[in-house]
Order: sequence, then C-alpha cells, then structure tokens
Amino acid sequence: MAATGKEQQGSKAFYVTTPIYYVNDAPHLGHAYTTVAGDVLTRWHRQRGEKVWYLTGTDEHGQKIMRTADANGVSPQEWCDRLVEEAWKPLWEHLEIANDDFIRTTQERHTARVREFVQDLYDKGEIYKGEYEGPYCVGCEEYKSPGDLLEGEGDFAGEKLCPIHKKPVEMLKEENYFFKLSEYGPKLLEHYERHPEFIQPESARNEVVNIVRQGLEDLSISRSTFDWGVKIPWDDKHVIYVWIDALLNYATAVGYGADQEKFERTFPADVHLVGKDILRFHAVIWPAMLMAQGLPLPGKVAANGWLMVGGEKMSKSNLTGISPQQLTEHFGVDAYRWYFLRAIAFGQDGSFSWEDFSARYTSELANDYGNLASRVAAMVNKYFDGLLPESKAEGEAEQPIKEGLAEAVAEADRRIGDELDFAGGIAAIFDFVKLVNGYLTEQEPWKVAKDTSPEAQERLATILYTAAESLRACAVLLNPVMPRTSGLLWDSLGAEAPLGALADQRVQDAGAWGLLPAGTRVTKGAVLFPRLEEPKTA
Ligand code: MSP
Repeated sequence: MAATGKEQQGSKAFYVTTPIYYVNDAPHLGHAYTTVAGDVLTRWHRQRGEKVWYLTGTDEHGQKIMRTADANGVSPQEWCDRLVEEAWKPLWEHLEIANDDFIRTTQERHTARVREFVQDLYDKGEIYKGEYEGPYCVGCEEYKSPGDLLEGEGDFAGEKLCPIHKKPVEMLKEENYFFKLSEYGPKLLEHYERHPEFIQPESARNEVVNIVRQGLEDLSISRSTFDWGVKIPWDDKHVIYVWIDALLNYATAVGYGADQEKFERTFPADVHLVGKDILRFHAVIWPAMLMAQGLPLPGKVAANGWLMVGGEKMSKSNLTGISPQQLTEHFGVDAYRWYFLRAIAFGQDGSFSWEDFSARYTSELANDYGNLASRVAAMVNKYFDGLLPESKAEGEAEQPIKEGLAEAVAEADRRIGDELDFAGGIAAIFDFVKLVNGYLTEQEPWKVAKDTSPEAQERLATILYTAAESLRACAVLLNPVMPRTSGLLWDSLGAEAPLGALADQRVQDAGAWGLLPAGTRVTKGAVLFPRLEEPKTA
C-alpha cells in the first residue's frame, strides 16, 4: 500500500476534538455519546496508518460552575478537581477512550495563552469597551436574543425562559468588552460557500448560514459581576467570557503560543465534534476569532443530534436516571460503544430504550456476530484439531464472500472515516456478517464433515477457511468500535503470530483475501457477547 499523505513523516496529524464539558456534574449518556463517536473516528484513522491527535477535556470557568461549587460549599477549583478526577477521567477510561490529551481550562498552559490571545486582539483593535444589556442563560452560558425566548407558564408565569433549559433567563446590565464579530459576517459566508463540507450535516449548515445572513452583532467577551474565570489582561475587573476561554482550548492544548512546532503539526482541527446546541459557537464565533488572529480555520464542524428523554434533550435536569456505567454493567463496554452509533444516525436526534438495546444486542452482536465467531472456532477445533486448514477447493460459493468483503471494507471506510456516518458504516460491516452466516447455512459444513472422501474434506477446509478469513477482517473493521471483543476474536483466530498486533492492521487493507495463513492455531476463545441477564426495563 502506498503511504498516504498523512502517513509521511512530519505531516500534520488528523486532529479531532470533543467539546470540553462543563464539570458542574458527572458525565451522562449525552456527553459519552459525543466522546465515543470521536474515539471511534480517531481509532479508525489510526488504523488507516495516519498520525492522529484526539483531544477532550473540561470547561471549568464561568457562573454555572461557580454557583454549583457555592451550592456544595466548596471552592470552584476544589469542585472541578474532584469532578474531573472522580467522575470524568474515570468514565473515559472505563469506556476505553484513547484520547491523546485532556485539557482543563484552569490549567496554566491554557489560561496564560488565553490572556495573550485576547490581548493580541485588543492590540489589533478588534475589542472595544461597551455596555451589554439583555437576557443571559447561565445553563447555556450564553447571551440570548429576546426573540428566541419562551413565555414562562405556571411557576415561571410572566418570565422569559431559555428554549433549551426551560428556565428563566437573567437580565444582565454590565460594562463589558466586545469583539467586533459583526464585521466577520461576509467573510464567514464566503468561507461556508467555498467549503460546503465545513458544517455537517446539511441541516446544520443551513441553520448557520441563515443566522449569519441575518447579520451578526458584536459579541460581549467579558463579565464583570463575578470573578471565576481568566482575568482580562488590561483590566482585571473583568473575566473573559467563558465561551471565548473555552473555544481557545483547541489551540492552547496543541501548543499555541508555547510550542510552535507541535502547533503546526496539529492545528487546526480536522473535525470539531459538537452537539447541535453549541454549533453557533463553533461555526460562527470560533472561525471569526481565528480570522481576526490570522490563524487557519478547522476542516469541519460536525454537529451530532441529541439523545432525547421524553421529547427533550437529555440533560442534568431531565436524566433518564440511567448512567453510562449502568448500561455497561448490563451490556458490556463494547456493546455500549457500538449501540448508540449503530442505532442513531449521526447528526439526528435519537432516544435510548432498554428494549431496543437488548433486541439489537441479542440479534446482531450475540446471534449474528458472536455465534459466528464461536461456531467457526469450534468447527476448526473439532474437524482440524484447531489448525486452520488450507483452502484448496474454492468455487462459486466463495466468490460473493470475497466480493462482499471488499465492498464492506470500502463502504465502511468511506462512511466512518470520511463521512462520519457511523450507523451506515457499522451496518455495512454487519451486513457482511449476515452474508457469512448465510454462506455457512447454505454450505452446511457440519454435513460436509460427515463425508470422509478427500473432495468433501477439501470442501470442508475451504468453507471453514472462508469463514475464518472473513472473521479476521471483521476483527480489524470492528476494532475501532469494539476494541475488547475484537482483541478476543484476534486471539481466538491466532492471528497475532502471523499478522502482528490487531491495532497495526490497516482498515483499508482489511478486504484483501487470504491474509490469515493456513496452519494458524485457532482456539475456542471467550464468548464475545454473553447472553443477557433478565431484560431490564426503564
Ligand atoms: N462547555 C461547553 C462546550 C465548550 S466547547 C469549547 C458545553 N458543555 S456541556 O457539558 O454542556 O455539553 C457539551 C456537549 O455534550 C454537547 O454539545 C454535546 O456534544 C454533548 N451533549 C450533552 N448533552 C447531550 C445530549 N443529550 N445528547 C447528545 N449530546 C449531548 O456546552
């Protein structure tokens, strides 16, 4: 395989980010959804042989965190330290998130550079002092347009509510510093026009284009009524608006202003993964900040839909009562990573239900995939003493498998690696699993085995080789999604000795046929997807 551009020494890394999450509470299913998606995307690119940088982290400043800490009787810093160490980092470890760095906005490596960035903009005349008067939602940490607010009812009668949090907004009247965002509208529109792939999906792109076409207002970038944040360098009565502070993590974490060499080989991000609620910050404000500073813009801002509960975005206040850990306890970590990407089209909203998860687990993971793996290993053991036989009697029946595999590989690579269509890519792999199951059902190796003639024995060898070689490819393709079970399958196929570590197998080469050599020792491995205990209901 010829080296792709990204494989060459010194080339820029494929750089993917998640939003940095507010640490006012422990992570929930919605946060894990975006983080797992980024993990699968980056593992996929690593298995293409590319240099990759995957960044996640936490957003620790602002009023929301400050109030939560106050309510819990601790300092904001203590609160953040506790949540990061006891809740956020452990969950990402548990879910096998292979992030390359974890940035916290209270770290000096971040705060010092944020001050420099803002000072630079001030020196360039991009920031001026003014007065902000208007509604603010602390839940969103966002200045709201009066036209977007809802009329309160019941307890909130007479008040204006945030459309996302359904809680009253607060009226602010403060002296603030403003960034001249309004001047960037035409340049942003030109960028969206020239780079249609910049905002994904299409519906998100249209939404952003409409917002910008309507005209942008200058953005208040400081707050002066509380102090939990990064101080404005030239006026320490103000702290920098938490979103300006937060967006800069994508630059400070990769060496902005500190390690130029690292910065150049990483920045800008190829993909910023964001929930659709924070699209405007990433597709309007962030690129305008970069333009103002003459820095390159990211390749893509990809908005995922929301995990919903009762028709509303899942959030701290309306949780299902189900934590990620409860689901992994029941289904296992791999199935958890697989389910949300498999069941929900990325970019669209989706709901979770125990019933749907259980049904998909049982039919696709346990019956189709897990059973295939265990049946093939059992038959190679029973009929060939565990040594993978040679395939000497290939015929017409094997052709569709080889072709089906090549197609599945190409489709999964395009959909997952390029289009962020995780559901479509995973479906392509599982359609291939179904094809192999159908092949075994038709070929009936257990019947062929009863015929001791040399011809029949050669057919038996070919059938089992074909199935095992298909599984070899499945382990490679599913490794970015389900690293643990893929590793178990790799072990059971005895693939490491002849082919090397699973993580070193290139996804784009997975469709080549005949890689697993005859003679490989196949063992009956652990059950990949054990039968579920009594189905739970919410
Ligand atoms: N701190 C900001 C982001 C700053 S990025 C420079 C923030 N944090 S957040 O914790 O409130 O949420 C961040 C992200 O979590 C969302 O944009 C989304 O990616 C993910 N999700 C939170 N709830 C979600 C759902 N219910 N469903 C899907 N994703 C969700 O905003």
